Amino acid sequence: MRINSKCLNLSLVLGLAACASSGAPAPEPAAPAEAAPEPAAVSSSALGFTSAQADRGRDVFRSACTTCHYSEEFNDQTFKRSWRRSSAGDLYDFIATAMPEDAPGSLPPAQYAEIVAYFLQMNGFEAGSMELPADADALSELSLAPLGG
Ligand code: HEC
Repeated sequence: MRINSKCLNLSLVLGLAACASSGAPAPEPAAPAEAAPEPAAVSSSALGFTSAQADRGRDVFRSACTTCHYSEEFNDQTFKRSWRRSSAGDLYDFIATAMPEDAPGSLPPAQYAEIVAYFLQMNGFEAGSMELPADADALSELSLAPLGG
C-alpha cells in the first residue's frame, strides 16, 4: 500500500481516520496526537474589590470564622503556597461550600465574596473601585498567582 507523505503527516496530526482511503476499512480513529496547548491566561482582568468590601469581610470573618481561625493563617506562607496556583474563584468556592466547617454554606454569597476581598487585601492585592462579584465562575478569571510564596 502506498501512503502519500502529505497524508501521513496529516494523519499524525488528525488521526488516521482523516486518511482512510475508500475501499480499505477505516482504521479506528486515533486520539489526537497532542492536545492543543492551553491558551495563555489573560492577565488583564477587570475584577477587583473595594476596601469597603474588604472591611466588611473582616467583620464577617471576625464573627463567623475566628472561633476556629486566626486571620494570620490567611496570609502566611502556607496559605500562599496552597492558593497561588488557584484563582479567587477556587478560594470563593472552597469557602462558600466548606466553611464555616460547622455550618458549611450558611453565609449569604455576598459575605463569602467579602471574605475573599478581605483575604486579597491582607495579601497585598490592591483595592479598586469595583466590588468582587459573589460568583465563582466570574472569580475564576482572577488569578491568585501574585501570592507568589
Ligand atoms: C468550626 C471550625 C471552623 C470554622 C468556624 C471555620 N473554619 Fe475554616 N477550616 C476549619 C478546618 C478544621 C479547616 C482545615 C484545616 C486545615 O487542615 O487546613 C479549615 C480550613 C479553611 C481554609 C483552608 C485553609 C488553607 O490554608 O487553605 C480556609 C480558606 C478556611 N478554612 C476559611 C474559613 C472561613 C472564611 C471561615 C468563616 C466563614 C471559616 N473557615 C470558618 C475549621 C473552621
